[in-house]
Amino acid sequence: MGKENNIDFTNAITLVHSLFKQKKSNIMNQIFLDGTCGKGNDTKFLSSLGYVYSFDIQINAIKVAKELKLTNVSYIMDCHSKIGNYINENIDGAIFNLGYLPGGDKKITTKKETTLLAIKCVLELLKVRGLLCVIIYPGHENGKEEEIVLLNYLKELNQKEFNIVIINFINRINNSPYPIIIERLKE
Ligand SMILES: C[S@@+](CC[C@H](N)C(=O)[O-])C[C@H]1O[C@@H](n2cnc3c(N)ncnc32)[C@H](O)[C@@H]1O
Repeated sequence: MGKENNIDFTNAITLVHSLFKQKKSNIMNQIFLDGTCGKGNDTKFLSSLGYVYSFDIQINAIKVAKELKLTNVSYIMDCHSKIGNYINENIDGAIFNLGYLPGGDKKITTKKETTLLAIKCVLELLKVRGLLCVIIYPGHENGKEEEIVLLNYLKELNQKEFNIVIINFINRINNSPYPIIIERLKE
């Protein structure tokens, strides 16, 4: 069996993409959100499943992503905490690959306050059986702060409403990035 039909444990990103593939539904016109467009790799992946709203605060990131020439994507240059100003429909899934643009300015990075606001907003929009995957970078100062704030918030959510799972690469060095996976169970 090829990787297409498997969970790919190579890293946090391949793991998340393969979970979305496994969950792929036959529902037409699925709507996704990429909370951190960056160079557009996650946006490209999500656009293979449906329509994508893709946020980033950096014009440089969006410019690079646009070079991928994806047709079913709306790029939004704004903070993901403002999602509610742009999206007024329910979504089937979202990816937040936190941190800074690889090769870019490390000071322009996701931050705990706005990340938490954005995640709360996405949870409101997520359809039943929808997936939200957040990739955490605990090896960076901001990433560590986001990890603490998000886990504190998420662990209090009602287990009847959400399945919340973390997959940690516990035998890897250097605080390997890892995903938090959230599935909505009911309205
Ligand atoms: C690790 S990169 C994302 C990688 C990307 N998903 C990809 O596939 O290439 C993180 C991105 O988040 C963006 N970012 C940081 N703070 C943000 C915010 N408040 N709202 C939206 N994007 C933000 C950064 O500009 C950066 O491009």
